[in-house]
Amino acid sequence: VITGKTRLFGITADPIEHVRAPQVFNPVFAERGFDAVLVPFHVAPDGLEALMDGFRRIRNLGGFVVTVPHKLRTAELCDEVGPAGRLIGSVNAVRRDPDGRLIGEMFDGKGFVAGLEQAGYDLRGRDVLLAGAGGAGRAIAFAVAEAGARRLTIANRTASRAEELARAVLRATPGVEVLAGPADPAGHDLVINATSLGLKPNDPLPIDAGRLEPATAVAEIIMEPETTALLVAAQERGCPIFYGRPMLACQVDLIADFIGVPKKARGASL
Ligand SMILES: NC(=O)c1ccc[n+]([C@@H]2O[C@H](COP(=O)([O-])OP(=O)(O)OC[C@H]3O[C@@H](n4cnc5c(N)ncnc54)[C@H](OP(=O)(O)O)[C@@H]3O)[C@@H](O)[C@H]2O)c1
Repeated sequence: VITGKTRLFGITADPIEHVRAPQVFNPVFAERGFDAVLVPFHVAPDGLEALMDGFRRIRNLGGFVVTVPHKLRTAELCDEVGPAGRLIGSVNAVRRDPDGRLIGEMFDGKGFVAGLEQAGYDLRGRDVLLAGAGGAGRAIAFAVAEAGARRLTIANRTASRAEELARAVLRATPGVEVLAGPADPAGHDLVINATSLGLKPNDPLPIDAGRLEPATAVAEIIMEPETTALLVAAQERGCPIFYGRPMLACQVDLIADFIGVPKKARGASL
């Protein structure tokens, strides 16, 4: 039951009907024995500033998740933004500190890396090909470099975006060799699809799968379908594969920790 002691959390989006954070986070609160509720806030871009001012004043608000189209503007409106959010220029979670300050951070990239780690894949020293330099690709590029990859090649349909991203990642992690290049998987240890190709049944493959070698691992970030055409092609060549879902699952834990959900409430029987 919701009482006067229940802590409040939210998700901001426009439209709102499709968001999954309430179904995902409320069971986590329950599992951790945490007296809290996460509800959807439907706000248009022109109302975001006023909403965030309101959030600063709501003293029992713990924080909120941010999704399309608010990730960029929310980063600008926060009182402070964490290191990944600053590099990427957008946030997908905001914590409200007891003094009312709003602290934002981006967890897309960290979630992806945590998903690989959980599956036993260590990025240190790896030669990585990343297809896609959109919102998710950007976050993943910084996180993969940060996680210790040796070399990162970024391929994107709009080449200028790949080049700009490669320069930004190189500035942030000077020890990593970062370059823009073709979507040719030959010779790489790991190929990541961070494009939206694979969502639709007739999409072309994001990389030249004919040049995939069996030793190259292939990671997807698309969640639906679970097994994309790229993963099918990779499996046919005997490549290890990683599905898209863990990226989101790992983010839930990271965001829960960030917005102040206790690991396990004291005295809760789990
Ligand atoms: N698993 C997760 O937790 C998770 C999290 C976030 C996103 N995702 C998934 O990641 C995908 C990308 O999301 P996003 O937010 O990064 O989208 P986005 O910002 O719109 O970026 C889309 C990317 O796909 C490329 N692209 C789109 N259509 C293409 C085409 N016909 N041919 C070649 N390249 C094409 C774009 O290239 P240009 O730059 O040339 O347009 C860009 O690199 C989506 O499928 C989304 O569902 C998954």
